[in-house]
Amino acid sequence: MTTVIDGNEVADRIRSEVTACADRLAEAGVTPGLATVLMSDDGASETYVSMKQRACEETGIEGSHYELSPDDPAEALFDRVETLNADSSVHGILVQMPVPEHVETRRVLRAIDPAKDVDGFHPENVGRLVAGNARYKPCTPHGVQKLLEAADVDPEGKDAVVVGRSDIVGKPMANLLLQKQPGGNATVTVCHSRTEDLAAKTRQADIVVAAAGVPEMVDGSMLSEGVTVIDVGVNRVDVAERSSAGSRTPSDDADTEKGYELVGDVDFESAKEKAGAITPVPGGVGPMTIAMLMYNTVKAASEQEG
Ligand code: GUN
Repeated sequence: MTTVIDGNEVADRIRSEVTACADRLAEAGVTPGLATVLMSDDGASETYVSMKQRACEETGIEGSHYELSPDDPAEALFDRVETLNADSSVHGILVQMPVPEHVETRRVLRAIDPAKDVDGFHPENVGRLVAGNARYKPCTPHGVQKLLEAADVDPEGKDAVVVGRSDIVGKPMANLLLQKQPGGNATVTVCHSRTEDLAAKTRQADIVVAAAGVPEMVDGSMLSEGVTVIDVGVNRVDVAERSSAGSRTPSDDADTEKGYELVGDVDFESAKEKAGAITPVPGGVGPMTIAMLMYNTVKAASEQEG
């Protein structure tokens, strides 16, 4: 029997812990604060940020949100970040990525006070993570660790293959799995667009984390029996194109009014035939990313006020 790992259930548990922590802080006179900044009119980015703000409301975190036009000068964003750095009621700052091309991403990541960098993307925090002394673990890979733990899959001594080498997911994921710490101690292979014979690598794996941003690129033929599959992909696929391209019908989750549905980087049906445990899309990693952001925010508040 394949276990379908329920990300909503695990995320709810973490959000309850976060709420309890926010309540304790409130009793001590501290309201944890998270500021989000969006400089984009991309629909997906807008949706993610509003989900993050809603999660703040639900967990006792004071959310504040700032929007800039993608045509605004870069300095408008840096001024906003500087103001938030100086505001002691704001414990966490998140600038939704990607930012427009005329804004240098690295400069944005460096501009955020590392103590408020709840994404864990500031070079100081990346360095600490790599050194095994993380302040804030990046939300998505940390969420994956929590899902593995919830599914009773200990990476220690296992072969883990991470497909994708992004700064947001692939690289920090590989680092966390490698750490000499609980949730780590795996033998880690990182694959990417230049990897030759990807299937040979994934077939060797006890754990596959798919985070390449390519719809359904990992299928059952690339997996061994009993593997744990974690699907980080969130791809918007056109419903009409998808149903005309093959025998598939739009899934129950298809948002037909918007004309797209969400699919992962894993072909769920064929992968489920092989997997011992697998995450669905939606309802797997997605809710964990937001839960871990709330977790990092109350951690930031406790440390800044403590
Ligand atoms: N864009 C996609 N994922 C993320 C994330 O985890 N944090 C930020 N700031 N932007 C993102």
